[in-house]
Formats: sequence, structure tokens, C-alpha cells
Amino acid sequence: MEFLEVIRKRKTTNGPFLDRPVSREHQHLLMEAASRAPSHFNSQPWRFILIEDRAKREKIAEIGGRTMQQLIADGRFFERYRPYFRFSEKEMAERRDGILIDQLPGPLRPFTRQVMSPSALGLLRALRVPQILGEDNRKLVASSPLLLAALLDKQEYRPGELSGFYSVLGLGMAIENIWLTTVELGMGIQFVSTPMEIPEAWEEIKRLLEVPEHLELMAIYRLGYLPPDNPRPRIDWKSDQRKRISQFVFRDSCATPESDT
Ligand SMILES: Cc1cc2nc3c(=O)[nH]c(=O)nc-3n(C[C@H](O)[C@H](O)[C@H](O)COP(=O)(O)O)c2cc1C
Repeated sequence: MEFLEVIRKRKTTNGPFLDRPVSREHQHLLMEAASRAPSHFNSQPWRFILIEDRAKREKIAEIGGRTMQQLIADGRFFERYRPYFRFSEKEMAERRDGILIDQLPGPLRPFTRQVMSPSALGLLRALRVPQILGEDNRKLVASSPLLLAALLDKQEYRPGELSGFYSVLGLGMAIENIWLTTVELGMGIQFVSTPMEIPEAWEEIKRLLEVPEHLELMAIYRLGYLPPDNPRPRIDWKSDQRKRISQFVFRDSCATPESDT
């Protein structure tokens, strides 16, 4: 595939993957791509765990579903991410950022805006939205043939110091390389971030993965091959919109937005 085409096609996969293991060859290609990322002084501070073991995947899925349900039910999710919810194509076209909630089960559709708002927590709970989202998430993670944990070596990852920032930058670039390579391999990838929003849940995963004291667990992803039809979860969103150049680029100083043409 053309390189720019790969960049334009890169996206988050919200739906299920094929029930087929990711070949060892492809797993190692993903890791090679990660290792080609730049890092300060070529320190390569990233570490990865390729998780295929079914019991471990199911446990992480259970924690993912539970934390998703918890975060939605207690309102934390909406409190944190409310500014990014869009409810119509028109709103999305104006802002050109955030996520458009474009898929809800039939009975919820008339309440789209209310369903995703902190003031409607009671309604949300009555409509069992936290359970639906939690259970859908658990199933998606459990049925993913490969989970990937990204870690940093604490010798370099020292939060608050420049080396901490450099390490996070390097890991981000390594993950982007993995993400782009999934496009080439007919695979998909999705961040599983709800466990890291609840410290006790994150600790549970660290114990499960036997993360040693000198490493920091930074993120978890689910990966697999993409099915030809792209079935979507019951509650879903899309986020393919991007800001115009004039909305995020300046020319020479922050006083002059770059023109779009
Ligand atoms: C730090 C970070 C955390 C994210 N957490 C999640 C997540 O928990 N679940 C998810 O589906 N996507 C997550 N994403 C993916 C973004 O939602 C996604 O990249 C964005 O909406 C743009 O969509 P795209 O990747 O399809 O282009 C995360 C991305 C980043 C960089």
C-alpha cells in the first residue's frame, strides 16, 4: 500500500476481529515496526508484552468491561470527556474534532443527547447503558486474539523530568508505527484504556502480567484481523473527522493561522 494511503486509512477499530490467531510472523513485524521508532539517544525505552494466553485475555477483558461500566455509571466518564461528544453530523462538521455518537440501540435513539450527558445519569442507569457498554467492551476484548501491553523502562521513564517526556514521546511513536503496520497487514487495533483510569484495576493488570518493579505499564491494546463486513457494537461512535489546517497550524508565530490553501 502507498505510504500516504496507509496514514489516511489508519483508524481505531471499534468492532470485533476475526476468530483467527495473529501469525507469529505478523506479531514480530509489528514489534520490528515499533523498534524502528526514534528514541532519545537510541535508548529504546519501550517494552511490549504480546498476550495470547486465553485466561489472561479473558481476565483483562473482564477488568475492561467492569471499569467501563463503573466509569459510565458513576459519571466520571462524562465529566472527563463531555467536551468531545458530538451528536450530529452538523456539529461534527463545524468542530471537526471529538467523537460522533452515531450508533445507539433503537429505543435509545430519541434520547441521544440526554443519554450521553452527566445530568441524565439516572436515565442512563435506567436504560442500562453502563451495562451495555461494559458487556460489549468485555466481549470485544475477550474475543480479540492478541492483546498488547506497552511498558516503559523506569530508568528512562522518570515522570516530571525531560527523560520522562522523551520516553513517552518515543513510546507514542513506537505505537504509531505498530498502528500503521496493522493497516498494511489487514489488521485492526483499539486502545483499551478504561482499566488505567481506575488505579486498583490497573494494579490488578500489573499483577496479572507480572510487571516487575523496574518497568511501568503504560497502555493496553487489542488487535486482530479485520472481518470483511465491519459489524459495529450496539453503542458506537466514529471519529474520522479532522480539523482544517487553519484550525491547528500557524505560520511563523502563533499570531498567524496558516491558510487552508
Ligand atoms: C491516549 C489515547 C487514549 C485513547 N483511548 C481510547 C479508548 O479507550 N477507546 C477507544 O476506542 N479509543 C481510544 N483512543 C483512540 C481515539 O479515540 C481515536 O484515535 C480518535 O478518536 C481518532 O479516531 P481514529 O483513531 O479512528 O482516527 C485513544 C487514543 C489515544 C491517543
